[in-house]
Amino acid sequence: MKIFIDTADLDEIRELASWGVIDGVTTNPTLVKRSGRSFKEIIDEIFTIVDGSISLEAVSTKADDIVKEARKLSKIHKNVAVKIPMNPEGLKAVKILSKEGIETNVTLIFSANQALLAAKAGATYVSPFIGRLDDIGQEGMQIIEEIMDIFNNYDIETQVIVASIRHPIHVIEAGRLGAHIVTIPPSVIRKMVSHSLTDKGIESFLKDWAKVKK
Ligand code: G3P
Repeated sequence: MKIFIDTADLDEIRELASWGVIDGVTTNPTLVKRSGRSFKEIIDEIFTIVDGSISLEAVSTKADDIVKEARKLSKIHKNVAVKIPMNPEGLKAVKILSKEGIETNVTLIFSANQALLAAKAGATYVSPFIGRLDDIGQEGMQIIEEIMDIFNNYDIETQVIVASIRHPIHVIEAGRLGAHIVTIPPSVIRKMVSHSLTDKGIESFLKDWAKVKK
């Protein structure tokens, strides 16, 4: 399972990439705004930190404009995957871009049917938003199970990026369902790395080692 980091915060990306666990990055307009940096500052640096797929979101709404924007974004770096919102205009754009060999990540997916259509249009990745479904009382992970079943039944090559992750259990569930990628906010990756028994164990080993005659 690949782990992407779901943030545009360069300091967090740098720190967590140094752990050797980050295979790619996903951003969106909200995450860019939250980072407090300009889009230019982010793209100037992000590709030097992570050598893997980096999703940058297109904000145009008409297919022709999405295609133009995606072509520009894809020229920034070979690792760009253009995030395109799931709707008919987005699908039209994905169809054209996939023929041009431009990687796309169809985002804001909330059902297996949407994922199937995005894959049919030629999406490289689909991003179902699990946490936002949980937030409205719908079992988010259910659609990951459905998407993985459908994609596996028909050997669909589109990769599933489980997104809108809220806690470490989401990551475990996504892995058990065989999702290709999970994109995780830095705060959740930090929760994944720590365990109170690990901290306690380190502390007691260090205490005992200090008492050993060297
Ligand atoms: O990649 C974007 C997605 O993960 C959004 O997450 O927390 O805004 O629902 P969230």
